[in-house]
Amino acid sequence: INPKVKLVDEINQLKKEKNAVILSHFYVEGELQDIADYVGDSLGLAQAAAQTEAEMIVFVGVHFMAETAKIINPSKKVILPDLKASCSLAESAPADKFAEFKAKYPEHKVVTYINATAALKTMSDIVCTSANAKQIVESFPKDQKLIFAPDKNLGNYINSITGREMVLWDGACMVHEQYSVEKIIELMNEHPDAEFIAHPECEKPVLILANHIGSTTSLLKYVQKSDKKKFVVATESGILHQMTKACPDKIFIPAPSADSTCACNDCSYMKLNNLQKLYICLKHEQPEVTLSNEIIEKARIPIQRMLEISK
Ligand code: 13P
Ligand code: SF4
Repeated sequence: INPKVKLVDEINQLKKEKNAVILSHFYVEGELQDIADYVGDSLGLAQAAAQTEAEMIVFVGVHFMAETAKIINPSKKVILPDLKASCSLAESAPADKFAEFKAKYPEHKVVTYINATAALKTMSDIVCTSANAKQIVESFPKDQKLIFAPDKNLGNYINSITGREMVLWDGACMVHEQYSVEKIIELMNEHPDAEFIAHPECEKPVLILANHIGSTTSLLKYVQKSDKKKFVVATESGILHQMTKACPDKIFIPAPSADSTCACNDCSYMKLNNLQKLYICLKHEQPEVTLSNEIIEKARIPIQRMLEISK
């Protein structure tokens, strides 16, 4: 028997025994998406975490996602295959530095992109994801001054489509800021029958070229509905697994990076997850996400506000 098939069987067995649910993000390896009970974007995953009746949540994604699941479900055990699965955006906004920044804008409310630490969420009025950022920002009166953190590219994009002038924290995702505009234009010229689609964490010059901008779920839905047969995709490569599965007759080309020698479309944090680590984590029920009650109580308020608005 193929060792991978055996591992998948054992993971499924452990999952049943322990009444655990596996939640995977679209950016992890295809085989980890396929083994999940739910696979989705950050909003879908937070909603799935809020609804699960399982006793244990295994989060196959990155740390801030597992933290969010824990904050929503303080009484449940939340484990993840690799504690080192961080996020360049979450790391760009250390809580102490952000507190100093926030203090400069006493009249501003804080909208925090979910790609942030729990500590940052405790300093926020509301959380958003790429799927609902526009709706969340527009839930504030037009004259309410806002800070948006930590992604300046998503913040810039939301400013441009809402006409707001939110103050932006200077953070970015290492995967989404490495695309080459010149190479994208060259590639689109080589494939005039293709459409270019991009995640809003990309920089403005890339977004200007896009036929469609959206969260990973939105990009996936777009390619399913479109009459086009070919797409150049500016987001993490894991989403291509679902796109190819949903549309086997269509062609998906990863958007080109400035550095053509690297696997830059792979998020090195997401890719820390693998089947072996998932098995070990489920078997030993660790590493586990732990947070103080104080952090959980404070961080839950802005997350619940988001979930209420996004029902
Ligand atoms: P979404 O899941 O909202 O599309 O965001 C992508 C991302 O960068 C998650 O880390
Ligand atoms: Fe963070 Fe970017 Fe990786 Fe998403 S793709 S987890 S934003 S580093």
